[in-house]
Amino acid sequence: MKASFIHSFGSPDVIAEGDLPSPSIGADEVVVRVEAVGLNPLDLKIMTGVMQQVFPVEFPYVPGTDFSGVVTKAGDNVSEVRPGDRVVGRTSPNAGGALAHSLAIAAADLCMIPSEMSFEQAAALPTAFGTASQSLIDVGGLRRDERVLIHAAAGGVGIMAVQLASDAGAHIVATASARNHDLLKTLGADELIDYRVDDFTQIRDIDLVLDSIGGETLEKSWSVLRAGGRIASIAEFAIRERKGLAGQFVFFAEAKRYLPNAFRMFEAGRLQIVIDAIFAADETRAAFEKLATGHARGKIVVRMGSGHANPANANE
Ligand SMILES: NC(=O)c1ccc[n+]([C@@H]2O[C@H](COP(=O)([O-])OP(=O)(O)OC[C@H]3O[C@@H](n4cnc5c(N)ncnc54)[C@H](OP(=O)(O)O)[C@@H]3O)[C@@H](O)[C@H]2O)c1
Repeated sequence: MKASFIHSFGSPDVIAEGDLPSPSIGADEVVVRVEAVGLNPLDLKIMTGVMQQVFPVEFPYVPGTDFSGVVTKAGDNVSEVRPGDRVVGRTSPNAGGALAHSLAIAAADLCMIPSEMSFEQAAALPTAFGTASQSLIDVGGLRRDERVLIHAAAGGVGIMAVQLASDAGAHIVATASARNHDLLKTLGADELIDYRVDDFTQIRDIDLVLDSIGGETLEKSWSVLRAGGRIASIAEFAIRERKGLAGQFVFFAEAKRYLPNAFRMFEAGRLQIVIDAIFAADETRAAFEKLATGHARGKIVVRMGSGHANPANANE
């Protein structure tokens, strides 16, 4: 089967395209013909080799965890899905495997895609929506009328976080470059800070910070918290509580748990899935180079299936 894969660590230049053996399945697994793949910064980090301690991978390694597609074959014990079903899921980062014609996965890890959601939209959800939900709601405990500061609000996680926070009835302060402010206002942000120009530490009395940047941004974020405030960081694993302020690292792992809420919000018109660009299957290097700029607006998606990449539809 056709796949994009790496034989060594490095920049997106190491990605090759070619043929790999088709997947085989056990009794609880299915084969999915992949239609679309949502890229994540973790895919890039794994590609460079810096994640080998956390997510060791073997070569050839097929990058990509977030996928949507169609079930083509089901193992003997599978009752959750059938061939022909449209599904979305996330593979483990060690396994990767999404940027291929087909992949094998446990049926229990899949969700059915709502009929009005496209493959591209579905593939954009697992990591971004799940991480935003886990950070803001499960770990952050965000409540109605609280003041939340969302860093990198225009990114894959940030755009989902703004909409989840809006849904929760919070007052949202968001950092993003100016070109993204109008979009973020329409998604529910109340106050925008252009982090390139203005110092976000001017704001005060924040109950919860979602930190996806780490480093100096995280360090400065403590000063904007009110007494008893908290930081949920998806960037700094060594974060600890400080002077009565809570600080917790969020390690996202369980996509399926959050997808039903994404579907509910989408069907109710309360979740916009923002896709910056859609690349074709033979453009995976270019797709990763775009992601590597660190300035994607929403998600970067690769269209694997028979449909054509259509940048004109990218923001629908
Ligand atoms: N711990 C976990 O389990 C977990 C899970 C998911 C993601 N993550 C990590 O979280 C980070 C964000 O992920 P993502 O998918 O949202 O990435 P992304 O989509 O690549 O983020 C891109 C966005 O970051 C914004 N940005 C860049 N530098 C910024 C700064 N200094 N201040 C504010 N915004 C800035 C850009 O905004 P502008 O274009 O407006 O400048 C752009 O919209 C990544 O490092 C990722 O690896 C961790």
